Amino acid sequence: MVTIASAKKRIKRLRAEIDRHRYLYHVLDRQEISEAALDSLKKELQDLELEFPELSTPDSPTQRVGGKPLAKFKHITHAAPMLSLQDAFSLEDLRQWEERNYKIIASDYAYFVEPKIDGVAVALVYQDGGLLQAATRGDGRVGEDVTHNIRTIDAIPLTLRQEASGRLEVRGEVYVSKGDFAMLNAARSRHGQPRYANPRNYAAGSIRQLDPKQAAARPLKFFAWEITSGLAMSTRADEYTALQDLGFPVPPGGQLLPDLTAVEKYLAQAEKRRLQQPYLIDGAVLKINDLAIGRRLGVIGKAPRASIAYKYAAEEATTIVEGIVVQVGRTGALTPVAHLKPVSVAGTTVSRATLHNAAEIQRKDVRVGDTVIIRKAGDIIPEVVKVLLAMRPAGTRAFAMPDKCPVCGSALAREEGGVIVRCRNSLCFPRQRERIIHALGEAGFDIEGLGEKIIEQLLQAGLIEDAPDVWDLKVGDLLPLERFAEKSAAKLIEEIQSHRHISFDRFLIALGIPHVGIVTAADLARDFRSITKVCQAAPEELEHVEGIGRKVARDIAAFMRAQHTKTLLAKYQRAGIKITAVRAAGPLSGRTFVFTGSMGELTRPEAVQHVRAQGGKVAASLSARVTDVVVGDDPGSKAAQARTAGLRILTPNQFKRMLKL
Ligand code: IVH
Repeated sequence: MVTIASAKKRIKRLRAEIDRHRYLYHVLDRQEISEAALDSLKKELQDLELEFPELSTPDSPTQRVGGKPLAKFKHITHAAPMLSLQDAFSLEDLRQWEERNYKIIASDYAYFVEPKIDGVAVALVYQDGGLLQAATRGDGRVGEDVTHNIRTIDAIPLTLRQEASGRLEVRGEVYVSKGDFAMLNAARSRHGQPRYANPRNYAAGSIRQLDPKQAAARPLKFFAWEITSGLAMSTRADEYTALQDLGFPVPPGGQLLPDLTAVEKYLAQAEKRRLQQPYLIDGAVLKINDLAIGRRLGVIGKAPRASIAYKYAAEEATTIVEGIVVQVGRTGALTPVAHLKPVSVAGTTVSRATLHNAAEIQRKDVRVGDTVIIRKAGDIIPEVVKVLLAMRPAGTRAFAMPDKCPVCGSALAREEGGVIVRCRNSLCFPRQRERIIHALGEAGFDIEGLGEKIIEQLLQAGLIEDAPDVWDLKVGDLLPLERFAEKSAAKLIEEIQSHRHISFDRFLIALGIPHVGIVTAADLARDFRSITKVCQAAPEELEHVEGIGRKVARDIAAFMRAQHTKTLLAKYQRAGIKITAVRAAGPLSGRTFVFTGSMGELTRPEAVQHVRAQGGKVAASLSARVTDVVVGDDPGSKAAQARTAGLRILTPNQFKRMLKL
């Protein structure tokens, strides 16, 4: 729960940091952090301000268009302010936006949707059909006169193609194509010059050249997105056509769509296609098609209510470090891993990021409580890029690597000038791996699909340290690993999440208590009814259990009292693991079920829990041990395979009757 006091503090920090980056970017043409990272900060601020509207102020960066005009240009006061757009990062954000508008004007909204071009906005004023003046946005009210440079851009008509008497204003985006930008940067590298940060900065710098010859030599292009005044239009769709008739290129692929469901489909396709386009597209702009409704909805802060920018998933985001855990890899090398407040990066949730090694964590000075930028690049494990130092709360402490192995307590060796710290115990990693395999395997939690190879990968990637860590995993954590795609990752996470209940005897096995196998676990579970009682039992009490002698009793008592066991039990508890009474046998004992297709109102995890509660097992795929296959709506290929194999097939209703649900 975020309290108003903590929200206030966080908002203050966020505003100061966002302002600083916006100043660097818009006024000094400098960029310290990626736009994606800045967006992530803005998004957090926007969310907090929505949650605590009383903390929203007119001077918040969410209410502002950045940038002061440079003194070297003549200033132009815009006839109508150059606004910016509200941002949406998910379909949920779009739905909320629609709902907010609906509360003001209840109407069936149709949307005109077009690509959002990553460039720099300009306002073009035509007088009796001829280009009179061109201005940058500046601070939204006053911009810079860049007419001399804009005239050099071929894509901008100097004379409108259709007669238009009087004053007409068109706004749009000046941009540089990806190919031209790559060529420019390659040439700069060849000449030993620093590379341009991105096409957008380059375009902004180009239109603000003092010498128009410089601008003329640059490959600038233009897309128009608005007729601000001079031609009365009734819809965005008409405006889009009118702009073309006047002689302007428009963002290709604009479409009129009846509702958000259609928008959702458009966005899914557009996001895939955008990478093939020759210019940078960083999202899509949704505009209420009916311009009269748009005018009536008006402006909120510095953005029109009628339009919104849907931003495509960014590869970078900001979040908070909640903990730093040191993992031991296969070679014994210690890897610090940041545990993060979960954040969505490029469409998946990330909760861990690697800090690589002792030297890296020192260089970056990452601390618990820090706000950090994290990056996910294609198929690699997410990493912490840098700390936003200005946002560091008071009282943080520099992270120190442990002086003993965090897993086995052995001495450590420092190699390569202290960059790599290694555990000297060659059995450390294999033992840790075996313990986890045992806990999650058939005798313990019995999580299908979580085999040795995957557990090893998870350990190597620093995603888990102990068995209970698997319940913290998110789909996004698995995606960078070998052999995982969105579907298989989601399936494994679902499988893990459906295994939160475990019978007492199986839990005792999972703990890996020395000498405790299936039989002893069952005996212990019968004689001591709770895990607390087992933890408190003196060796003499344990000796009363059938088959437990003096030595074994002492070993068990020592294990249950060890710090490592206490930590492990606390972790299981935090993971929400529920220990259920031992059910010797149920009506479904000896049967193994496979589910395929939708089960109607019964969810898959519920069905699985019911089978387990009645003594049965559930498998993810067909094999010799499967006895029953429940085939729901839209089943996969398993249904046909099961029929060929002659297995017993049940409909969801037959299944429910059988389990007396
Ligand atoms: S409509 C109130 N349509 O993105 C401004 N803007 O992040 C109405 N942009 O300020 C803007 N492509 O500079 C619109 N197809 C498009 C756009 C677009 C890029 C820019 C524009 C805007 C910014 C908002």
